[in-house]
Amino acid sequence: MATPAAPQLDLIHRPRRNRKSQWARRLVSETRLDTSDLIWPIFIVEGVQKREAISSMPGVYRYSVDLACEAVVEAASLGIPAVALFPNIDPELRDLTASNATLPDNLVCRATRAIKSAAPNIGVITDVALDPYTSHGHDGLLYGEEIINDATVALLTRQAINQAQAGCDIIAPSDMMDGRIGAIRAALDAEGFQNVQIMSYAAKYASAFYGPFREAIGTSKTLQGDKRTYQMDPANVKEALREVALDLEQGADMVMVKPGMPYLDVLQRVAETFEAPTFAYQVSGEYAMITAASRNGWLDGERAMMESLLCFKRAGATGVLSYFAVEAARLIRAQT
Ligand code: PBG
Repeated sequence: MATPAAPQLDLIHRPRRNRKSQWARRLVSETRLDTSDLIWPIFIVEGVQKREAISSMPGVYRYSVDLACEAVVEAASLGIPAVALFPNIDPELRDLTASNATLPDNLVCRATRAIKSAAPNIGVITDVALDPYTSHGHDGLLYGEEIINDATVALLTRQAINQAQAGCDIIAPSDMMDGRIGAIRAALDAEGFQNVQIMSYAAKYASAFYGPFREAIGTSKTLQGDKRTYQMDPANVKEALREVALDLEQGADMVMVKPGMPYLDVLQRVAETFEAPTFAYQVSGEYAMITAASRNGWLDGERAMMESLLCFKRAGATGVLSYFAVEAARLIRAQT
């Protein structure tokens, strides 16, 4: 049989040489995922010794404060630098004015104090937004059909001070009201909290991928309408750059792009344009998709998890908020 005619090949350049074995691939690897890149979001509920499953997020739980402390101690021992707390408060405590958000003994403040004393060396991030506290599930105050900006910001600054007084390390406003970063920074400084950082959810999109989170904090049934008058349109990226610029000008120490995987282009543009600490949030729906496919045997869950996290880093993320944080940290530890 005649040998097939050799096609014209470029034999000087053989990019496959650098992929020939694991050591060679490690040698030229451009990006690395470390436990210090991971922030673990956790859900908190009232009670003792409680660990409630969330049906749309298999493997993720709502912890009572005592069990949350144990879980965070483990996260700290794995090298995770920070956790982000999200409360699911009693439905009876939710009202039109989000009154529970500013009470010094509310669930998130009690959790913050307990976690800071159980695990003093891990950062505690608290969420500034009204959705866990409003009877309608919106992040701001609803007046008629409208989420009113300025009155919401005034309340958010009080919420932030309340959390700072409880000992949180980082305030993370996820509400998307205009002007809230500057207002919160000024209020924190005026109260003596100059060292409390702000991680701004600067480019947060109105996304279908938040569905499971709303089950986790108990707003999926109550949420009236949608959040499109304050969260961003998924069609826009230039607007994301303007949002990030405003938040950095107003004093944000770190910014975030959210959701994660469908928005890697936004993440890359933000990271390259501002060169500020830039975080990606791999949200609940992303966790649910990977976990569901994995549980059905449709993809290798462990590999999909590690690949998705690494790709955030490659796109320019300083770090990633992920419900996989603990599982990923265990794997990273086992591999090194
Ligand atoms: C609301 C908030 C949301 C998330 C974090 N903070 C949901 C929303 O905007 O409705 C989503 C996180 C996730 O889906 O994992 N302040």
